[in-house]
Amino acid sequence: MSEVAKIELEGKVFELPIITGSEQEKALDISKLRSETGYITLDRGFKNTGSCQSAITFLDGEKGILRYRGYPIEQLAEEASFLEVTYLILKGELPTAEQLKDFEENIDNHTLVHEDMKRFFEAYPAQAHPMGILASMICSMSTFYPESQNPNRSKEAFELSINRLIAKLPTLAAMVYKNAVRHPFMYPKNDLGYIENFMYMMFGMPTEDYEPNPVIAKALNKLLILHADHEQNCSASTVRIVGSSQANLYASISAGISALWGPLHGGANQAVIEMLEMIEKDGGDLDKWIEKAKDKNDPFRLMGFGHRVYKNFDPRATIIKKACDDILGELGIEDPTLDIAKRLEKVALEDEYFVKRGLYPNVDFYSGIIYRAIGIPTEMFTVMFALGRLPGWIAQWREMLDNGDPIGRPRQVYVGSTKRDFVPIEKR
Ligand code: CMC
Repeated sequence: MSEVAKIELEGKVFELPIITGSEQEKALDISKLRSETGYITLDRGFKNTGSCQSAITFLDGEKGILRYRGYPIEQLAEEASFLEVTYLILKGELPTAEQLKDFEENIDNHTLVHEDMKRFFEAYPAQAHPMGILASMICSMSTFYPESQNPNRSKEAFELSINRLIAKLPTLAAMVYKNAVRHPFMYPKNDLGYIENFMYMMFGMPTEDYEPNPVIAKALNKLLILHADHEQNCSASTVRIVGSSQANLYASISAGISALWGPLHGGANQAVIEMLEMIEKDGGDLDKWIEKAKDKNDPFRLMGFGHRVYKNFDPRATIIKKACDDILGELGIEDPTLDIAKRLEKVALEDEYFVKRGLYPNVDFYSGIIYRAIGIPTEMFTVMFALGRLPGWIAQWREMLDNGDPIGRPRQVYVGSTKRDFVPIEKR
């Protein structure tokens, strides 16, 4: 017999089915609650609400576990390539050598961006934030591929949209950067790997030969893998909810990019570096900034600290912290912000306020230091996050459609005025 929970409302007992996940997570199925009792649940920020059943990513915030399709993040970050992980996230299984080769070739076939899109860049102000441009460009792609506008189209057409997105996002990201520095766009070079090609389009110049540095390529590979999916976070939930209205994949991913931009989500990587630079410029008095972060009347928060789900440690942060040391060492770079970051982490982790609330460095605390060391400008940091998160967004979107999930439409508890009659303006 399946398990049930009982709740008593206005003297009557109702039964709620209990759902158990493959890792023994428990959930109350409240889908019939309103029709049977008239009640809804209230959960601001969806802190306790499961919006779907998903087979993509498992994370346990208490134990600091993160797995894509069952594979531990530590193993994937150390041993896999980003496209291998992309394949895994999208299709559910690791590819064979032949499957990976086919997949890479398919991606290579689509790296060019339609020439007409180049003209869009001319219209943006020089100081435009890269995330604003990227979100617009991805949404614009739907106008170039009108067949993408029916999400229920054939499997082949859907695969084509996926390949186009994965292939073109690095090209567009590099174009955003080149446009900002007013340098000529570099066309993709498909004999390079996915990451090396991105580096070439970002840092190459038509006037010079460019040889991607393998240390940097390895670091980027790791960073993209660490960001590839994170179950029902703000941007993935956005992608699902936009897609649930049957909006096309490009429009849904564009919405995900916009959600990621915010400093409480992916934009934290930019905010962390800006914070560390500000602390350094201000004289490096860490106690002062810790006190400000603790003060509820002060809007300052320690960026790169805290997480909705991880309350002991963020396994991605552990990997990134070590990678940060390794990469700076291998590139022979000394960065004073790394020193401030480490000291700040130490002070915060010994402070009762942070300990009591389970606030630890998250994935974004050290990632910006690596991006900076490898020459990515601060405003491009969140674009890098988007490059990494793309397979996750696509897989979440597709799973939502494959599972036949209904349109996302939360309810509310209305607390505004009760009925009152309109008063003509001259009588007010
Ligand atoms: N600095 C100071 N206090 C904090 C911080 C912080 N960074 N984060 C949380 N708190 C406090 C918060 O004020 C609250 O205190 P109290 O219980 O006294 O009211 C308590 O800790 C719980 O915080 P919360 O805001 O209820 O937690 P949340 O789950 O709603 O928010 C968060 C999670 C990530 C938005 C938040 O920790 C935060 O704003 N961190 C800084 C931004 C950041 O680094 N974001 C990147 C997240 S990782 C990348 C990604 O995947 O998005």
